[in-house]
Amino acid sequence: MSSAPTRRRFVSAASAASLAALLPRGVFGAPAANRKAAVHADQEIATVRPELHSNFAEHLGSCSYGGIWVGKNSPVPNINGYRRATVEYLKELGVPVLRWPGGCFADDYHWREGIGPAAKRPKRVNLHWGNYLEDNSFGTHEFVGFCRLIGAEPYFAANVGTGSPEEFRDWIEYCNYPKGSALSDERAANGSPEPFRVKYWGVGNELWGCGGNYTPDRAAQEFRRFATFARNMAAAHIIPGGTDVYLVGCGPNGDDARWTRGFMDQFAGGGPQIDGYSMHYYENGNLPPTEFTVQEMYRQLNLFGRVEAAVIHQRELLDGYQPDPRRRAGLFLDEWGVWDRMVPEEERTRGRLWMQSTMRSAVGAALGLNVFNRQADKLYMCNIAQLVNVLQSVLLTDGPEGNHCIRTSTYWAFMLFKPHRGKTSVRVEADGNRLPSMEGGRGGRGGGEQEAPPDLSVSASRQGGELVVSLVNPRHDVDMEVECAIRGVAARSARGQILHDADRNACNTFDNPDRLRLQPLEARVEGGNLKLVLPALSVATVTVQAG
Ligand code: AHR
Repeated sequence: MSSAPTRRRFVSAASAASLAALLPRGVFGAPAANRKAAVHADQEIATVRPELHSNFAEHLGSCSYGGIWVGKNSPVPNINGYRRATVEYLKELGVPVLRWPGGCFADDYHWREGIGPAAKRPKRVNLHWGNYLEDNSFGTHEFVGFCRLIGAEPYFAANVGTGSPEEFRDWIEYCNYPKGSALSDERAANGSPEPFRVKYWGVGNELWGCGGNYTPDRAAQEFRRFATFARNMAAAHIIPGGTDVYLVGCGPNGDDARWTRGFMDQFAGGGPQIDGYSMHYYENGNLPPTEFTVQEMYRQLNLFGRVEAAVIHQRELLDGYQPDPRRRAGLFLDEWGVWDRMVPEEERTRGRLWMQSTMRSAVGAALGLNVFNRQADKLYMCNIAQLVNVLQSVLLTDGPEGNHCIRTSTYWAFMLFKPHRGKTSVRVEADGNRLPSMEGGRGGRGGGEQEAPPDLSVSASRQGGELVVSLVNPRHDVDMEVECAIRGVAARSARGQILHDADRNACNTFDNPDRLRLQPLEARVEGGNLKLVLPALSVATVTVQAG
C-alpha cells in the first residue's frame, strides 16, 4: 500500500540512506514518504481485554524491593512502606493485573515464609538472582495490599519446581477461604479478615527451564496433580461465597510447538484441564539500551512480527486440542518485552536486570500492543516484564534506596494505548501489519543479511461512535504522511497524542525525566480519511469521532 520501500523489498542500510536523500523532506525534518492504511470499523475482532495491558513484578534486582516496597521506616517517601511515586504513577496508568512473585523466583518461593511479623520471617538465599539474602519482608499481604492501592488484580505464580500440591492448596486456602479454617483464621490474625479472593494462579513458571527443567509431558502431569487439589480447595460449591480459581499451565518459550504438543497431549484422557496457557516471548537486543545501531534496532523491532505469528500459531495448536470455543484455554503472553544487553555498572548500583527504556523500546512496546489489539480474539492476558527497575519497566528508580522515580518511554507507550481498553478491536490494513515468513526459524534471519526495515504498524478499536487508532512509525529515516481510510463509519473529527524523538537512543533520565512524554498531535479528517504526519520513530494514538 505504500509508495516507499516496504519490508517485502530488501533495502540495505546504505541503499535506504541514499534513497532517503532523494525523497522530499517532511515537516519534522526526515524525508517524507506517503503511507496508506485502512481501518474497517465495521469488521469486529474482539474486545480488547484490559488484561492485555498487564504487568509482572518479581523478587529480582530492585523491582519488588526498592521499586515497590521501601519499608515503613524508609526516608524514601512512602505510603505504609510502598514507594509513593510508584503508587501514584501506576494509579494514573492503571495496571489491570499484576503477576508475582516470579519469574524464576516463583519456583523457589515458599509463601509461608512471607507472612506473619516481618522480623520473624526467615532469610533465604535468592538463588536465581544473585544469591542475595531475601528477608521475605514483602510477602502475600504486602503484595495484595499493593495491588489494592494501585487498583490491580493480583495474579500469583505458584511454586511447582521446589513446591508441593499441599503448599499450593494451602496458599489458596490462606488467601481465599472466607473464615473458620486454620489457614483463613491465620490470615485474619495477620491483619486481613476479608479473603483476598485471588483468581489467577500460575502453576509453575518456565517449567522447561528455571522452573525445574521438565519435559513437557512431565510438566503437564505436574499440572494435573497440583490442579486436582487446588480445584477442590477452590470450588465455589465447597466454599460458599469463596473464590473460584483460574489455573494457568506452563506454555512454551516463544513459539515452541514441540512443547505445546507434548504438554497438551497429556490432557486428552480427561482430568483437570488448564484454564489458561502461558507463553513467554522476549525480544532480545544485542546492545546496551542507549547504544543501539539502526541495524540492531530493526533486527529487534522485526521480532514483534514473529510474536504475532507465534500468537496465531499457539492459538491454533491449542484450538486443535480444545475445539469447543466456549471451553478453550486463555492464551497468556505472561512475559514479554525487549531484553537488551545490561550495563554492568547499572546492574551493580541499581540492581540486577536494571535497564533503560528508550524511544526504540517505546516503539517496540507499541508494536507489541498493536499486535495484542489485532489478535484480541486469541489472547487473554499479556504481562510486560517488568513493572519497575527490571527489563522493559514502566518506571525506574535510581537504585533501591534512591529518591528519584521516573516514568520511562514504555510508560508513555502504554498510556497511549489505554483508550483501547474495553473497546472492540477492528480489522486494519497497513504495510507493517504483514506477518513475516517464518523461514529461518524463530527470531532468526539468514546469515549475513542486512535487516529490512519494519514499516507502518496500525491497530484500532471502536466503541459506539468513538474509534481509537494507534499508529507506529518504526523507521528512523522517514516521516510518514499517513492517509488512513476509515471504512464502516462516517468519520467527523480527530484528535491525537504522540510520543516521538528522532534519536532512537533518547530516554528519560533522573536529570531529564520528561524528555520523552506525550505531546498533542495534529490529525484531521478529510473525505472520510484520517490524515496525519508520523515523524520518524514515533507512536501515536488518534481518537476519531464518527457519526
Ligand atoms: O523476567 C526475568 C526472567 O525471565 C524471569 O524470571 C523468567 O521467567 C524469565 O526467564
